[in-house]
Amino acid sequence: MDRIKLFAPATVANLSCGFDVLGCCLDGVGDEMIISKNSKQKLRITKIIGQNLPLEVNANVAGVSAEALLAELDEKQGFDIEIKKNIKAGSGIGSSAASATGAVFGINKLLGEPFTTNELIKFAMEGERLASGNAHADNVAPALLGGFSLVKSYEPLEILSLPSLPELRMLILHPLIELKTKDSRSIIKQNVELKKAISQWGNLAALVSALYTQDYNLLGRSLKDEIIEPVRSILIPYFDDLKALASANGALGFGISGSGPSVFALCKGDGVAEKVKSEFQEFYQDKNIDFDLHLSKINSEGIKIIN
Ligand code: HSE
Repeated sequence: MDRIKLFAPATVANLSCGFDVLGCCLDGVGDEMIISKNSKQKLRITKIIGQNLPLEVNANVAGVSAEALLAELDEKQGFDIEIKKNIKAGSGIGSSAASATGAVFGINKLLGEPFTTNELIKFAMEGERLASGNAHADNVAPALLGGFSLVKSYEPLEILSLPSLPELRMLILHPLIELKTKDSRSIIKQNVELKKAISQWGNLAALVSALYTQDYNLLGRSLKDEIIEPVRSILIPYFDDLKALASANGALGFGISGSGPSVFALCKGDGVAEKVKSEFQEFYQDKNIDFDLHLSKINSEGIKIIN
């Protein structure tokens, strides 16, 4: 095999109570990537469609992630990477993670899988380091593994896959403003009040329990964030109104997707998700805000080969 085409999915990180440790994978939106072997003994980003992103390998998240993998193997084989960006950079649904995971997943396949999918996470995290100044794993892990991922620890890196619930629908509302993860991280306070930490880890533990016990109600009640959301939500137009709309129309929970500006409404079933979608649509149209909406199931497979 000399060439591979991939679907690299969007992801939602944090899920309110799990800043930097929790994320899930979407199936409704993602990038397409083509990775092929070349005879130049060189890694090249040959084409990026849909976004104005750097082609220089060391300035591109796909490039640095791929370089990290090749360096560990001391591999001289060259590769060409083409990226069709369907996920907008700075949208908060794992745009950099999709490109980073696509590169390492594709190259690993073409090299005969020297690494397990779980082992690829640390290389893809190098892309996140470039994009945001911090090598967080809560987008790249679910993009690679599918479903829900929990970062049990960063040092040493240990990632757990959690079960999903079949009727979950993730609605993403993306106000069309670009918010760089780096900037959105820079405003977070570095110290957490004990009272807030207690509430946060209680919710995170309850969310994990809800996934194992298939308890939609508990899952919804666990989607709370007392630490990051109050700070970041001021960057998102009409955040509180959207949250109230989501709740009034039956969403299980609502929060910031990753570092924003996208927000998510997690719903049970298509009916509720469609209702929340049309409410969000009407609301933002009324306010004259440009937006994208993506409605997705939880993608249990993660990144995949498409031909
Ligand atoms: N956990 C990261 C953050 C995710 O919130 O900054 C970025 O998508």
